[in-house]
Amino acid sequence: MRQIALEVNGARVMHTIADNSVTLVNFLREQMGLTGTHVGCDTAQCGACTVLVDGKAIKSCNVLVVQVDGKRVRTIEGVADGETLHPMQQAFSARHALQCGFCTPGMVMRGISMACEGTPPDPERIRSGLCGNLCRCTGYEGIVLAIADGMREMQKQGDVCAGL
Ligand code: FES
Ligand code: FES
Repeated sequence: MRQIALEVNGARVMHTIADNSVTLVNFLREQMGLTGTHVGCDTAQCGACTVLVDGKAIKSCNVLVVQVDGKRVRTIEGVADGETLHPMQQAFSARHALQCGFCTPGMVMRGISMACEGTPPDPERIRSGLCGNLCRCTGYEGIVLAIADGMREMQKQGDVCAGL
């Protein structure tokens, strides 16, 4: 048994962990009900489980929840501003950058993290940054265009990375 305290989408969460081997993605989905973070491969290859931890994109199937004790976690459920979608979500919608949508939460989170890291909205740089995110529907063209648009909009709005 271990007590952990973390911030999830801006809310303080305290939880008793009975099993130290619980992954962050399983904690988010099963304990928090945040099922927008998907499990694809469960072996750190597909990126479907990407979330932000202290603002950095990580594969939450490959991290134990006890490892994020004291940290800030942001999932796809926590990026919109009320009813207003995050600029990266808006760009995915405008570009129709999804097919089945299974990879989309991870792609959006990785897109946001790339923008916050200062990656330029250049297709080659975006493709390189997405090397750990797979789309089984292979809709990469729209995804790259959407991330570039989302990055530009985030730059325009400024200060959208604070607190993520
Ligand atoms: S489910 Fe985590 S990388 Fe595939
Ligand atoms: S849209 Fe289907 S896996 Fe990417």
